[in-house]
Amino acid sequence: MDQPQREAPVYDRTAEDVGNIIEFGHVNTRVPDQQLATLFYVTGLGLTRDPYLMTGTENMWINVGTSQFHLPTGPAQVTRGVVGLVLPDLDALRTRLKRVASRLRGTAFSVEDRGASVDVTCPWGNRIRCHAPAPEFGPIVLGIPYVAFDVARGTTEGIVRFYREVVGSQAARDADGTARIGAGPDTVLLYRETDRVLPPYDGHHIQVSLADFSGPYRRLLARGQITEESDQHQYRFQTLVDPASGETLAEVEHEVRSMRHPLFARVLVNRNPAATNLHYATGHEAAAWAQFPA
Ligand SMILES: [Fe+2]
Repeated sequence: MDQPQREAPVYDRTAEDVGNIIEFGHVNTRVPDQQLATLFYVTGLGLTRDPYLMTGTENMWINVGTSQFHLPTGPAQVTRGVVGLVLPDLDALRTRLKRVASRLRGTAFSVEDRGASVDVTCPWGNRIRCHAPAPEFGPIVLGIPYVAFDVARGTTEGIVRFYREVVGSQAARDADGTARIGAGPDTVLLYRETDRVLPPYDGHHIQVSLADFSGPYRRLLARGQITEESDQHQYRFQTLVDPASGETLAEVEHEVRSMRHPLFARVLVNRNPAATNLHYATGHEAAAWAQFPA
């Protein structure tokens, strides 16, 4: 007897494409006071200080799943936009933020509870939007799913061209005009046009890793856009230029690393902030950054 014919499954293979930016590494903003930074990022947000690297008072690395905040000591820098976080438990976040509020009084620290998300401002004005895990964030339960930058009107078409043609990354405009740039399997860079007058660029930076490291380098070098030859595995650029017109569109320093950089895909320590000396069970100190597929 003939077996019933089963239809071959149809897969969307393009959904697996990542583009040339294959890892989002860190957001770097200087902080004037490491004690206040510890209160905010570690005690308040519940994130983890990297226990292995930058363990002094001149810099602190904060682990968030597979990405980081880098917080060197110095005059404050403020990202012109919003950093998105996914945290496993927003109610626990609300409790932690209440506990640190009195010690952050007199700074720019603030909390706006939006229900589905919690908007938090760091002691120096950096805006962070905290989300619960959700299908739109893929497998992330602890991480940085997006960094959204404010940019001037009329710039996002050129920004998409820059990332596509110069960087070789995934880039497209949303229906509202936001430029959406692929920055690893689970992270995007967003550029949103605003009428707000933007403060002068203060030197904060982001770090990404590229699969094709030398292609963008050649194109940026030919345009005079390489700002730092850091070492064999790393260079920097700062200006996003429309390849069609040569017009400068935005400034965000990008620290660009290759997949041969020794820190590429480094496994980061993430703690479970629910574990304390008074509320403790063996084996529950560590937090997972990803969840099982639905
Ligand atoms: Fe950096």
